[in-house]
Amino acid sequence: MSTPAKSEPVSLAAKDIHLSFGRNAVLRGVDLDVPAGTTTVVIGPSGSGKSTLLRVLNRLYEPDRGDILLDGRSVLADDPDALRQRIGMVFQQFNLFPHKTVLDNVTLAPRKLKGLGADAARELGLAQLERVGLRHKADVRPATLSGGQQQRVAIARALAMAPQVMFFDEATSALDPELVKGILALIAELGRDGMTMVVVTHEMGFAQSAADAVVFMDHGAVVESGEPDRLFDGAETERLRQFLSQVL
Ligand SMILES: Nc1ncnc2c1ncn2[C@@H]1O[C@H](COP(=O)(O)OP(=O)(O)O)[C@@H](O)[C@H]1O
Ligand SMILES: [Mg+2]
Repeated sequence: MSTPAKSEPVSLAAKDIHLSFGRNAVLRGVDLDVPAGTTTVVIGPSGSGKSTLLRVLNRLYEPDRGDILLDGRSVLADDPDALRQRIGMVFQQFNLFPHKTVLDNVTLAPRKLKGLGADAARELGLAQLERVGLRHKADVRPATLSGGQQQRVAIARALAMAPQVMFFDEATSALDPELVKGILALIAELGRDGMTMVVVTHEMGFAQSAADAVVFMDHGAVVESGEPDRLFDGAETERLRQFLSQVL
């Protein structure tokens, strides 16, 4: 499976995604259109299906219906592992290996999945740690770092696979308030560098300043979407107005 040149941004689209767990219809016809090199922020109440949508988009769950396109091409017939190598994911929980050094956490996947040798992996890992401001922490264990630093390591780990798309699922929700801004700034910087991104967040300030588009989900469907200014200043649905009045 060859991947296009690393710096070339790719588009991501979802068409009419449906997914039920038993009788619970969690995604009910979701469309998403993320042009190459842009940032889409997904907002919505707890339980509206945001995390499930991200999981379907990288095929941790298979949709009951619908299509997923990367770079304009359906990925549903591909090997899911190949797709997951093209999409980097950062969660609320950092899930770093406590017994490995920071550098080993970052280089584990490229060594295992791309067969990178020790020297090349170290060089790659240090470059990614540099990108998130933590090169000097390469040889320590994750537990010695702050939550914000651990999340930076998790971001470096995702970037080390040279993903074409990045997903962030409430990446700052577990952080102490004073550490949130730094992580949001780092995510925004990735966006400015041209990464195609889908960011699930409750940080409306980030959505307003860093998103090219905002998607509001409720009950497994996209209720409204558009440019952040339009959405935040001119919500058309009562549901979005109500949601914004609770979070702003
Ligand atoms: N693996 C699963 N099995 C059954 N139900 C699930 C599973 N994952 C999520 N759900 C259900 O899907 C709905 C949406 O959850 P989720 O995508 O986590 O929402 P959000 O991220 O917007 O808070 C919830 O009702 C949740 O209980
Ligand atoms: Mg969630």
